[in-house]
Amino acid sequence: MFMASRIQTRAFSASARNLSKVTVLGAAGGIGQPLSLLLKLNPRVSELALYDIRGAPGVAADVSHVNTKSTVKGYEASPAGLASALKGAEIVLIPAGVPRKPGMTRDDLFNTNASIVRDLAKACAESCPEANILVISNPVNSTVPICAEIFKARGVYNPKRLFGVTTLDVVRASRFVSELKDTNPVDEKITVVGGHSGVTIVPLFSQSSHPELSSNADLVKRVQFGGDEVVQAKDGAGSATLSMAMAGARMAESLLRASQGEKGVVEPTFVDSPLYKDQGIDFFSSKVELGPNGVEQILPVGKIDAVEEKLLEACFSDLKKNIEKGKAFVAANP
Ligand code: NAI
Repeated sequence: MFMASRIQTRAFSASARNLSKVTVLGAAGGIGQPLSLLLKLNPRVSELALYDIRGAPGVAADVSHVNTKSTVKGYEASPAGLASALKGAEIVLIPAGVPRKPGMTRDDLFNTNASIVRDLAKACAESCPEANILVISNPVNSTVPICAEIFKARGVYNPKRLFGVTTLDVVRASRFVSELKDTNPVDEKITVVGGHSGVTIVPLFSQSSHPELSSNADLVKRVQFGGDEVVQAKDGAGSATLSMAMAGARMAESLLRASQGEKGVVEPTFVDSPLYKDQGIDFFSSKVELGPNGVEQILPVGKIDAVEEKLLEACFSDLKKNIEKGKAFVAANP
């Protein structure tokens, strides 16, 4: 009796002190490194676990010298290393995989990244089935359904805990609008819905403080294809890494705030969503309220204008194919 109550007290005080292990898979990459640094700077993270098929211990040694309280460990590239990195994780961020080169779409990454994400999802299902899984690896429209299928096949799928990271689209939209309007991006709240590639990215300017911008086709296109600007400027050296790391760290921070009791935390994210299931769209990005169990509430898209209706229609046809491609991949390559 005494022991039991002591254990309970200890369990309670542990959560009261907010012990949160966060794991990064692909931690030595272009996104993984700055993302790990930003997570090390986050006081809500108590333990940072870094895994990659090469170089994670080096990144971990480097980041571990940053004088914040969390512990950092880099794991050897092996199934045992991966399992240890995942064990006890509250959040797993996955930026593992290859990035785009000029001229490539995100879908062109499918052949390489699908199997990488599938195998990492298997390890998560085995070692941390209750963690929040944040998929950054592209094509997100397909890699998220891949994770879902892997979790389903193992009987551990919780749709409230699986997220495609689309935060960067919202970050870009708010920055691009603030440049255009000479405002502070902090004040530019732009909702972006749909998926995370090209025309599946649908900014809803009609819901912002500048509703007239929905007819600014150049701006809409810039949000949809903003990633291409970075791919072209890097000229073969990859895609967005620094802005993506910021966006991924923001998404992780929002989940931690919500799991540590804050109410009303809302982020856009690509989740298993009821919004357009009747049209065969099983996953959709919209504003999602986060809570201690992951997804607390999926918010409706709300009122949109005629231009946006058209954009949404174009989104649906591509998005549906991307989702089906992910599912079919797992069916053929379980
Ligand atoms: P990168 O090539 O610099 O890094 C990828 C890292 O993943 C490498 O360190 C590599 O060793 C590692 N890796 C590969 N296979 C692995 C495995 N099986 N297990 C663990 N680690 C593995 O690429 P970068 O620039 O960091 O991009 C990563 C992914 O993120 C790409 O798929 C890219 O398209 C995507 N991305 C997603 C965005 C989003 O908004 N969701 C934005 C920008 C990029």
